[in-house]
Amino acid sequence: MKSFIFENRTRAYFGKGCVKEHLGRLARRYGQRVMLAYGGGSVKENGIYDEVMQILKDAGKQVYDLGGIMPNPTYNKVLEGARLVKEQDIHLIIGVGGGSVMDCCKAISVAAMAKKDAWENYLGHPGVIDFQPVPVGVIVTASGTGSEMNGGAVITNEESKVKTGKDYMECNPAFALLDPEYTFSVPKLQMVSGAFDTLSHIMEIYFSEPDESNVSDDISEALMKNVIVNLREAIKNPTDYTSRSNLMWDATMAENRIIKLGKQTDFECHMMEHQLGAYTDCNHGLGLAVIQPVYYRHIYKDGIKKFARFAQSVWGIPSEGKTEEELALAGVEALADFIKEIGLPTTLHELGIEDIDVLKKAAGSCALLAGGYRQLTHEEVFEIFMECR
Ligand code: NZQ
Ligand code: ZN
Repeated sequence: MKSFIFENRTRAYFGKGCVKEHLGRLARRYGQRVMLAYGGGSVKENGIYDEVMQILKDAGKQVYDLGGIMPNPTYNKVLEGARLVKEQDIHLIIGVGGGSVMDCCKAISVAAMAKKDAWENYLGHPGVIDFQPVPVGVIVTASGTGSEMNGGAVITNEESKVKTGKDYMECNPAFALLDPEYTFSVPKLQMVSGAFDTLSHIMEIYFSEPDESNVSDDISEALMKNVIVNLREAIKNPTDYTSRSNLMWDATMAENRIIKLGKQTDFECHMMEHQLGAYTDCNHGLGLAVIQPVYYRHIYKDGIKKFARFAQSVWGIPSEGKTEEELALAGVEALADFIKEIGLPTTLHELGIEDIDVLKKAAGSCALLAGGYRQLTHEEVFEIFMECR
């Protein structure tokens, strides 16, 4: 295993009723002025907004609203939130939503306190956060990204057409409240998209060195199997508490740094999806579903032993009568079949992405990471996009 330092500053509260039980007490630890951030309005329709607002009022908080955080949050929205935080001298930011709201809140917490340009120094490029960002607490309403227990904030800069995120320990939320019932109202396609994002995170970590025995890979296999089983159940019955609980905690486990320990990690598929998102605003999980099998058909020979292990351990494909290469490819095809089975798109056409010029630009600006089994070139990223059509 590679050497590591591990820290996770987020305290997670998981389970039915956890918001009612803990939020008031947690909020009382901070000053009086709270910013309540949310997305396009689902929290107002499903009653979560009213519940949270009441708890904050009962805790004596003065609440300032920041609504309208869009999927694929933009840097302009971050700046709007940072202005509000500074003008109202906010003591605590509470984000109620999915990955987009949580990420936007973390970015706001940095941008509001940064003395230097936040995009250039922290959000768009790696930097050192040598100041205290505004404390953030999150209430998860859509699971998948795992943003609730890491320091990543994936933000789209609309001007420079870059979608990127950096994980800073200082940006971990102070607390995360995860009530699986809060996710019941998520539309089915988004629920599946979120669960696929979780699976994608695990694969991005698993398909990287080291490949000799390591506990992170063993946990990853257990998590992948758990996502597959529980997603099938949740599709049959979206209000099944057991499967939604598992999916919710799988998502957190995939991105709270634990299964990354000792691993190189890849994340090239995420880089491709992020740039596609920067140009087309496509849904994150759906974009990944289209790209990931195509990407793996390109690189499986470079990590053949791991792909063969994936076929056997995750998909239960027997090795008898197959060469190592056939087994490895069978694992990738099992993934592709699963994507079809759960109703996710398999082509960019289905996402409404047709413009070859856009694909060229997204490929040309895609970050090329060195952590996977083989580093891609911009030309190969373009080839992958073209094969995704
Ligand atoms: O905006 P509202 O009206 O709330 O509707 C949202 C949104 O339309 C809806 N939704 C959320 N909770 C709901 C609900 N609808 C009904 N009932 C509820 N309880 O779901 C839609 C999608 O929400 P969004 O937050 O955009 O989805 P997701 O959680 O998939 O987040 C995606 C964003 O996270 C980034 C992605 O790139 C993307 O920008 N990621 C963040 C990561 C991180 N910080 O660690 C890692 C990921 O790889 C990812 O890049
Ligand atoms: Zn993701």
